[in-house]
Amino acid sequence: MGIPQPAYYIFKCEQSSPPGMPKPSCVNPQTQDLFQHLAQTLMQKGIIATVQPIRSACLNRCNVGPVMLVEPGHTMYVGLDKQKIDRIIDEHIIGGNPVDEYIISEEEWDAPISPKDMMTQMGR
Ligand code: FES
Repeated sequence: MGIPQPAYYIFKCEQSSPPGMPKPSCVNPQTQDLFQHLAQTLMQKGIIATVQPIRSACLNRCNVGPVMLVEPGHTMYVGLDKQKIDRIIDEHIIGGNPVDEYIISEEEWDAPISPKDMMTQMGR
C-alpha cells in the first residue's frame, strides 16, 4: 500500500500589501494569526496528516479577504475569521458540507475559462 494522498489541501492566502498600498490584503495585524489557527485546529483534531494547510501567495480576490481555497472542489471562502475557519473545518472538511454563507459570490467567482478557450480568445 502506498502513502495516502491528502483528502484536502487548504490554500490560505498569506499576502500582505505594503503599507500605503490601496489594495486590501489578506494579512494585517488583526488577521495575521489565521493560518496558525487553521494549522493548530487541524492538528488538535488529529487530521493534519490528511488535510494539508498551505500558505499561498495572492489568490487574486484581495477585495474580499482574508480568503482561502479548499481543494478539491475549488471552494473559495472569503471574509474569514477564526470562528468561520472553525465552522469550515467542522462542516466542510470533516462533515463534507461546504459552508455556503462564507463562499465567495458568483459575481466574484464565475465559471473558469479553459486554457484552450482562452488561447482561442487571444487568437493563438
Ligand atoms: S492578498 Fe489575499 S487574495 Fe490577494
